[in-house]
Amino acid sequence: MTKAGILGMGRSLGDQVVTNLDFEQRLDTTDEWIRTRTGIEERRIASEQIDSSHMAFEAAKEALQQADTSPEELDLIIVATVTPDMAFPSVSAIIQEQLGASNAAAMDISAACAGFIYGIVTAQQFIENGAYKKILVVGVEKLSKITDMNDRNTAVLFGDGAGAAVLGPVSDDKGILAFELGADGTGGMHIHLQDEFLYMNGREVFKFAVRQMGESALGVIEKAGLTKEDVDFLVPHQANIRIMEASRERLDLPPEKMATTVKKYGNTSASSIPVAMVEELNNGKIKDGDVLVLVGFGAGLVWGAVALRWGR
Ligand code: UT7
Repeated sequence: MTKAGILGMGRSLGDQVVTNLDFEQRLDTTDEWIRTRTGIEERRIASEQIDSSHMAFEAAKEALQQADTSPEELDLIIVATVTPDMAFPSVSAIIQEQLGASNAAAMDISAACAGFIYGIVTAQQFIENGAYKKILVVGVEKLSKITDMNDRNTAVLFGDGAGAAVLGPVSDDKGILAFELGADGTGGMHIHLQDEFLYMNGREVFKFAVRQMGESALGVIEKAGLTKEDVDFLVPHQANIRIMEASRERLDLPPEKMATTVKKYGNTSASSIPVAMVEELNNGKIKDGDVLVLVGFGAGLVWGAVALRWGR
């Protein structure tokens, strides 16, 4: 059977740096509260004229380059986002045109912060059954356009960005080893879009996330026929350092074996996992042959995890 893996990745972040001190000036909050409760120090917010498709396009270009893949080779573009430029056309169709990916089908998927995981698992199915060879998966979010910047409960948490991966066939010992996807719609009210803004019951989401991230990470390791000791690097959804630390501890991993970009970029939803992966690839922390566990959760409520062996 053909194995599907990641051939190359790229990312793009909001162009403006907004620090905790900036929020201190405008809201009833402090740098100390934000840092200690979330681990966030600053985030990137995209200017008004930059929409999700712009960031998705930039990240996709870089991923194609890293994957030595031309746009024409793409069979499918999947964009995971809850903040598309508009309801339709989809972000995937917009960037299909911009990239010149004339042979690619295009669809957006909505799985909030677990969107990138849902995207790569979807791509994996098409590649492993032989229907498609090369698939671009982008997680992108411009959460700033649905965040009430006067609400301290949410304004300080989020950032804008895009992360992209080109998936294709890899050698038998590399690529995606196992996945787990799940949903519990009964928790839907805990994060939802009401009128124009995102509403969140932080405490409930926190409890769910701590439980589910650990369960999913352990579940996917078992499905891959591995043990905790086999895991080289954990890439959790970058929502809150306290949730991430709880997952890391469930896997008995030392701090240096977990991606942590939440400090610099905040929670960038569907883009947080691929953005963190690019950062850690650039830092030399993800190496050929490493076993990675990616795990995310988000509005829905939904969750997903993937175990993969890095490399082609
Ligand atoms: O990608 C998925 C999306 N969401 C998440 O991952 C979020 C998951 N939840 C969290 O990360 C945390 O629950 C938060 C960071 C949102 C909140 O942290 P917490 O430790 O759960 O705080 P809390 O909700 O228990 O609130 C403690 C207090 C409250 O005041 P009272 O009611 O105790 O008087 C809040 O009003 O902190 C207050 N608070 C703030 N204070 C200063 C909430 N936001 C702020 C703020 N600055 N920015």
